[in-house]
Amino acid sequence: MAAPIIRRALLYVPGSSKKMLNKSRGLNVDCIAYDLEDSVTLGKKAEARQSLRHLLEQPRAAGIREQAVRINSVESGLALDDLQEVLKSPHLDALVLPKCNSASDLHFVTDMLRQALPSRHPSSPASPSNPIRIIALIESAKAIQNLPAITAASPYLSGLIFAAEDFALDLSLTRTPGLTEFLYARSAIATAARAANLPSTIDLVCTAYAGAQAQKVLEEECANGKGLGFNGKQVIHPSQVEVCQRAFSPGEQEVEWAVRVVVADEKAERAGRGAWTLDGKMIDVPVVGKARAVVEKARVCGIDVEGVWERWGDQEPE
Ligand code: COA
Ligand code: MG
Repeated sequence: MAAPIIRRALLYVPGSSKKMLNKSRGLNVDCIAYDLEDSVTLGKKAEARQSLRHLLEQPRAAGIREQAVRINSVESGLALDDLQEVLKSPHLDALVLPKCNSASDLHFVTDMLRQALPSRHPSSPASPSNPIRIIALIESAKAIQNLPAITAASPYLSGLIFAAEDFALDLSLTRTPGLTEFLYARSAIATAARAANLPSTIDLVCTAYAGAQAQKVLEEECANGKGLGFNGKQVIHPSQVEVCQRAFSPGEQEVEWAVRVVVADEKAERAGRGAWTLDGKMIDVPVVGKARAVVEKARVCGIDVEGVWERWGDQEPE
């Protein structure tokens, strides 16, 4: 069985920085995207490809759940060289595809994956434990218009990412701290990912990573993204990882509520009650479904659900 996908934080590490590549191996993070795109200058691309290939040949670091490479966009003409190098790496889990503007960008990468790694097709019977995945960056007006075609373009697609800087450039829009100028695009992305049943929807980078206000700004952005339906966030600095992973995990009270609902629902069901009450609020099928999802997510996030279960094992429906 493939491990459950969870990308509360997706950390970019420039493929051209030996120092940061080394540093990344000691981090605890859901997803690392080793970058070959914008953090690597044109003159350093070939060297960075080699470094990443070497890095992904080493045994996996214990704290990294998923190792991805952000290749260059298909339109750049560099993606083929990137893929030819990194697809040889045994420990590559996913590709991050920037500037995914239409279905054809995904078709290009999909065809390469089918040919280079047939046993890692998501529905291959040969090796279902480590399918390779694609996470697509949505960063232009055209991409927003093409979302339904993009989400249907590849069986490898596992998530969408909103890239604010390139999107702002494309639309010549003015950024504000409240992020209202991105509301339509972010909401469209979260909705499209959900409609296509993609496991992850990853929100914009918070570029303010240092200084007294940085953590507060990041926490607010996480809460804002979570409210729109995102389940993770891109980060650029190790100091941002923990904040995002906490923010996109179920909170203590949420887990407690969810366990109480699931425990009491088993009893309600035995008593033949489809709708019942907890803390004065009605509980019925969709609410129980949400509670079960919270419990499952909490387990994947490493939260001690069984401990909470022991405390609330006597919960009765009201
Ligand atoms: N991945 C791994 N390690 C990182 C890192 C990253 N993204 N960002 C910083 N570090 C390391 C530093 O090397 C340093 O290591 P040390 O403790 O061994 O000295 C430590 O974390 C603290 O870093 P700090 O000095 O605060 O930052 P910096 O000035 O070295 O780097 C940036 C700041 C913004 C240049 C750097 O974080 C970065 O390049 N981030 C990624 C940018 C990127 O990929 N952009 C494209 C996608 S949007
Ligand atoms: Mg970009």
